[in-house]
Amino acid sequence: MKNKELKRSVEKTEDGSVTLFVPELNEHYHSVHGAIQESNHVFIDAGLHAVEKESITILEAGFGTGLNALLTYFDTLQSGKKVHFVTLEKYPLQSAEYEVLNYGALVNKEEGESVLKQLHEALWNQKVEISDHFSITKCHVDMKEVVWQDIPAIDLVYFDAFAPDKQPDLWSDEIFQSIVDRMNKEAIFTTYCAKGVVRRSLQAAGLTMERLPGPPGKREMLRGQKR
Ligand SMILES: C[S@@+](CC[C@H](N)C(=O)[O-])C[C@H]1O[C@@H](n2cnc3c(N)ncnc32)[C@H](O)[C@@H]1O
Repeated sequence: MKNKELKRSVEKTEDGSVTLFVPELNEHYHSVHGAIQESNHVFIDAGLHAVEKESITILEAGFGTGLNALLTYFDTLQSGKKVHFVTLEKYPLQSAEYEVLNYGALVNKEEGESVLKQLHEALWNQKVEISDHFSITKCHVDMKEVVWQDIPAIDLVYFDAFAPDKQPDLWSDEIFQSIVDRMNKEAIFTTYCAKGVVRRSLQAAGLTMERLPGPPGKREMLRGQKR
């Protein structure tokens, strides 16, 4: 993918939430079986709910639609935990694209739309407080060019890049090693991907890996922990 812009169209998934489709890669941003369902399963249930700390720094690979950030925000309202959400994105959505996402109303009728808007409007490359419990730093950057020493120590990784067969260079030993080196002891790494080559690469970088049942439509996913 060489272009600065990424062409995308909106599609409905099976749980009623929408996703984006990238014709150039023949790839969706989420599972067509349900975008919200997949994000809740892979990142919130298998990731956020497995971290025991009260104050959590999350690193997300691929901010995209902001769905993982939105679900994490509303989870902090329930749990009372504090989250600093650091997210990497090379191809930010235009306002015309994020304005048609239907996640806000589906996730929280009263406040969902306004929170999703705040997440997208938050300035890039600086820490923005969305609430007492949730701040976000959106880094407009190519994942291959991150200065890893500038990333705060991580408690939880949401690895949500496009699939390894579409963007193999983002699932490299080098990127995984850089991420694992920034992870605190006991930190958790979660991804929708279940490929053996990814599991082995994360293991070689220093994580203890397990396969978990995937979201509907997908048999397995991966989770790792730094011990
Ligand atoms: C599978 S999508 C998921 C995004 C997001 N987590 C969501 O729920 O919408 C992958 C994301 O990675 C971003 N991306 C692609 N190549 C990238 C790169 N080299 N560096 C940083 N982000 C990249 C895409 O623009 C897209 O937003």
